[in-house]
Amino acid sequence: YKVSLDADAVDKGTYPFFMLKEIDEQPAVIRRLVSTYLGERDDYRFDPQLIAKMAEADQIYIVAAGTSYHAGLAAKQIVEEVAKMPVAVELASEFGYHLPILSKRPFFVFLSQSGETADSRQVLVKMKELGYPSLTITNVDRSTLSREADFTVLLNAGPEIAVASTKAYTAQITVMALLAKALGQKLGTDDGKIDLRSELSLAANAMQTIVDNKEAIEGYAKEFFETTPKAFYIGRGQDYFASLEAALKLKEISYIQAEGFAAGELKHGTISLIENGTPVIALITDQATAGLTRGNIKEVEARGAKTLKIVSENLAESADQLVLPAIASVLSPLLTVIPAQLLAYYATIQRGYNVDQPRNLAKSVTVE
Ligand code: G6P
Repeated sequence: YKVSLDADAVDKGTYPFFMLKEIDEQPAVIRRLVSTYLGERDDYRFDPQLIAKMAEADQIYIVAAGTSYHAGLAAKQIVEEVAKMPVAVELASEFGYHLPILSKRPFFVFLSQSGETADSRQVLVKMKELGYPSLTITNVDRSTLSREADFTVLLNAGPEIAVASTKAYTAQITVMALLAKALGQKLGTDDGKIDLRSELSLAANAMQTIVDNKEAIEGYAKEFFETTPKAFYIGRGQDYFASLEAALKLKEISYIQAEGFAAGELKHGTISLIENGTPVIALITDQATAGLTRGNIKEVEARGAKTLKIVSENLAESADQLVLPAIASVLSPLLTVIPAQLLAYYATIQRGYNVDQPRNLAKSVTVE
């Protein structure tokens, strides 16, 4: 619906596909969000009533679908680490029909790029009936979810046209990190360990470095994905949640059967899928589990897997192919997702498919 209007209003410029343009825009989106929501004196520029309402809650429920759900998983760790408030992340299409026992004072956050996803909306309608407060974080001002929730925070990412969502994911995580800080300040629970302004500035610069060196990633796409029918991403903690999004990008546009696995779960079943030449992409950004994930890499290599290691600088070893600048590990999905987006993009081009309009998928799904 609205997307086609936006498509007319937006120019691909010299880019062959919107997806590549949108991947490249991510450093600018992060910087814009910082200048919009973080004031000069570390004052967070959100509606004070919103922060007050969130602070009254005993638990935050994030409800979303698709890529936005994956952003929610990453956001949970950030909110819990920074603001020390428990967060549940729920799939919209499940939650409304199988309501769990809720906490006493829930606060609902709807993450939705389009603001139109029917699965998310049915939850919002039900939670409003129950009288619970709600916030929609969306890229589209005055969208349905934005109009119907008590509060709205905009992603300001500019129109996202490609069906495969990229900049909305990193924008959602960034906004949730900024909100977590504001909430932690209000509650007095933020221990100040994460200097968000400097971390997000590092993240934006690091993203820029990755997108400026696309050719390397194009080469790895060819090496790892040219003919394979399947591929796996593995990681632990935030690297696991980023793996889910990385695999989704790959499967939705390149049609390679891709899955993201918790690295420690391989031995409990999924390692049986590894054959000679199966691509396994490992994400390693957390010191606490880097050694364990390295162990899992050895296990899959011993069964014939071809491994691509995406590792933050501080944990890198000489054989690691893609080394990313180090940022606070809880924010790492902002960076690990960028090579994954580019790998999916190039794999799709190399296989001859339409990057922006994959078969069977719509940008905004307005049916349940
Ligand atoms: C559709 C899109 C996905 C998107 C999901 C949620 O399925 O194809 O890319 O992640 O909807 O969309 P939303 O607009 O609610 O973030």
